[in-house]
Amino acid sequence: MAEQIQPIRGMNDILPAEVGAWQHLERSVRELVTAYGYEEMRVPILEHTALFKRSIGELTDVVGKEMYSFESQGGESLTLRPEATAGMARAVISNRMLRGQRHKLWCMGPMFRYETPQAGRYRQFHQVNLEAVGFAGPDVDAELIALTARLWRTLGIERVRLQINSLGTPESRRAYRELLVAYFRGHESSLDADSLRRLEGNPLRILDSKNPEMQELVAGAPLLTEHLDQESRDHFDALCGMLRDIGVEYEINPRLVRGLDYYSRTVFEWINESSGAQNAVCSGGRYDGLIAQLGGEPTPGIGFAMGMERIVALLVQAGQLPSPAKPDVYVVLNGERASAEGLALVERLRNELPRRRFEMNLGNGNFKTQFRRADRSAAPLALIVGDDELARGVVGMKPLRQETGQTECPIAQLAQGIEAALASLGCA
Ligand code: HAM
Repeated sequence: MAEQIQPIRGMNDILPAEVGAWQHLERSVRELVTAYGYEEMRVPILEHTALFKRSIGELTDVVGKEMYSFESQGGESLTLRPEATAGMARAVISNRMLRGQRHKLWCMGPMFRYETPQAGRYRQFHQVNLEAVGFAGPDVDAELIALTARLWRTLGIERVRLQINSLGTPESRRAYRELLVAYFRGHESSLDADSLRRLEGNPLRILDSKNPEMQELVAGAPLLTEHLDQESRDHFDALCGMLRDIGVEYEINPRLVRGLDYYSRTVFEWINESSGAQNAVCSGGRYDGLIAQLGGEPTPGIGFAMGMERIVALLVQAGQLPSPAKPDVYVVLNGERASAEGLALVERLRNELPRRRFEMNLGNGNFKTQFRRADRSAAPLALIVGDDELARGVVGMKPLRQETGQTECPIAQLAQGIEAALASLGCA
């Protein structure tokens, strides 16, 4: 046998048994975001590398270590998108959608990051992404969070909690950053290698350190929330008030800084309590400077992305899944004429009963084999198309989950006969 080609590490196949959970999530999201007035937009998976460098930031882990970048045949540096916000922002600019207009947009699809794979962290993963551009908030911030809270309720996901923070404006953050660098410089000998590396380029990320030995040092660091500019403070207070008004519980986490550079003011994360390190199921925030930074007219924006793999895992854990689709009718074919005419008969039934699922026996097999397959299909009703029956202008019908005997139905009235039989079996 030829050597097997292995799948790429961190990139998963989604098997038929899992697809039901994905479709359930996709359907629920689509319905909910449409009800909140978000319009779907689809952007390419490949973009110019420069887009991500300029928006996410060269010194972030995502851009510095995790991008799938390559040179195209035409010599351009392209990158498989590690996230969707940059592409969505680029698209509203490229398609001249701004001009003072406001948009509520969403998209869904695969993202790529060269991270170390582990449970809940993959190299190809999927996000649902919502972006509201042209809204200065804080009402839109609160509404977006309300939408996510409603999604958890709709999906029956319970053990998630909301953390929020404000990163202030770039100016107030710059001043805070200086304080932070001075603080960590004073403790340079206690910094781990990762934090030392971040000290110059991205000191706020040191606050995010997962290293237990760094926790004491991080706990003593000055807090961003205490150095916010007045407007950001008012924005944040208003958001907190709105969340209280609509009954969405939150925790203020002053160390929530997020790993992408484009954020300003509101940032938030929904954390799942039961999973391990990879516990953020939905994260986002405001990016008031991003569109201008990408060459568009200055336009505020806010959005979030949810990790679909992580939410699917929670759905499976909670047992909140719709039952898998099964056929209504399994068609058993018995004899030469039946085998020859079976497909045409079933196609006619598919025309007449487009709502019904028919599974025709494929690849012959004796009566016993075919009934075993019928049983495994979980269809409630079998149709028996045999040479004998065809000669008499009828077809046999047999309930598969009840001990009722076989009946016959004239071919001319088969569609009505099937509907009546299915109705009597509780499959209206
Ligand atoms: P992010 O925090 O990098 O933000 O990712 C958002 C979510 O995607 C995370 O909370 C997590 O659920 C999921 N996720 C991230 N990386 C992985 C991975 N390697 N494997 C599985 N799931 C993962 C963003 O991407 C921003 N673009 C969100 C945003 C939209 N901000 C404003 N608008």
